[in-house]
Amino acid sequence: MNRAASSVVAVFALGLAAFGASALLGQTASPAAGAKLAPPPPPPAATGPVTRAAAQLRPAKDGKVEGTVNFTAAPGGGVHVTGKITGLAPGTHGFHVHEFGDCSAADFASAGGHFNPTGQPHGAPKDATHHAGDFGNIEAGADGTATIDYTDAGGSFDGRRSVLGRAVVVHANADDLKTQPSGNAGGRVACGVVGVAKPE
Ligand code: CU
Ligand code: ZN
Repeated sequence: MNRAASSVVAVFALGLAAFGASALLGQTASPAAGAKLAPPPPPPAATGPVTRAAAQLRPAKDGKVEGTVNFTAAPGGGVHVTGKITGLAPGTHGFHVHEFGDCSAADFASAGGHFNPTGQPHGAPKDATHHAGDFGNIEAGADGTATIDYTDAGGSFDGRRSVLGRAVVVHANADDLKTQPSGNAGGRVACGVVGVAKPE
């Protein structure tokens, strides 16, 4: 190849390179094409399994009992229930999950009876048979505050035993853990609907 011919080849090669670069720039400079190349965003937390839930309890008409109850998936299965209720009369108070997540009635009768998806009699949490919503009692100290730390072995965030969308109810009196259908626990002094909470 003589000197003139090699120059022509070099110029041609440069031209090809320039064409290639401009074609590439044309592709990546387009916003639409750029968007297609972006990696998909991570799925929002809401699409994952529910691992936490919470209920904000408000007082019955003319009452002052209120608090928060948190539900967390327990490592060995079931649900760990924690929380704090204030404004109670000192002593023992029935504490249950009721069937309907509806605290709209002044006396919270709208929450229905104890959550009982397996058709069992009322009882204590430790009994072989009891309502899924039978969480037993909470104890308020002299200051009217009860601290909750309870593991519900049968509790769940899915399936027919799911607590989601049900109501947590605190009663005026103690649940005797045997009288049907609700332990003779008296009126309903606080109620809150269990909702999905942000995973930790
Ligand atoms: Cu109850
Ligand atoms: Zn019950």
